[in-house]
Amino acid sequence: MIFTVAIDGPAAAGKGTISRAVAAHFGFAHLDTGLLYRAVGAKGGDPVEAARNLTEGDLGRDDLRTLEAGQAASRVAVIPEVRAALVTFQRGFARREGGAVLDGRDIGTVICPEAEVKLFVTASAQVRAHRRWLEVGGDEAQVLAEVIERDKRDADRAVSPLKAAEDALVLDTSAMTIDAAVAAAVAEVRRRLAKE
Ligand code: CDP
Repeated sequence: MIFTVAIDGPAAAGKGTISRAVAAHFGFAHLDTGLLYRAVGAKGGDPVEAARNLTEGDLGRDDLRTLEAGQAASRVAVIPEVRAALVTFQRGFARREGGAVLDGRDIGTVICPEAEVKLFVTASAQVRAHRRWLEVGGDEAQVLAEVIERDKRDADRAVSPLKAAEDALVLDTSAMTIDAAVAAAVAEVRRRLAKE
């Protein structure tokens, strides 16, 4: 069975948690596409070369979750050749046999517009910054400033900007527990799977 769940949304909206839970629930493979851009940004040197030569080892670095790696990722993510170099891998993953969940910014709009389920997971900037601050610590006001800066860069870029696909189900998790958000996502996938 080919079945793709595309989960897009701004920084720290809960995409990762929801994606992992949906993948585990249905036995689908999961790809965190943000990790690809984080690895390219962290590699240094020419980002286009880094994207063309990305290896498993690059994705296994333990410094990819930092705020700095997030900023570096969103700076290389505006480069069309970087995005182009990562398309084939992501499309192959999305349409693999057995089902796949991909989370990112442009999965439902550009990478896999034919995805069977599209979710756009969002929350207010304050709520998202607070969640990210609980993970990374430091100064909460600075975390908020960085979240807002990164969202602006992601939404304003010319190629594959962050936006909900027209046919995406929007999940605003500002006032939702993570369990409730996961339950809503699972219900949507189950509803669509019943039609297969
Ligand atoms: O986890 P968080 O939402 O903070 O970030 P991420 O998903 O790891 O993505 C890091 C950065 O990579 C984003 O701010 C985007 O600039 C970029 N990205 C992208 O352009 N397209 C994707 N499909 C995924 C990430």
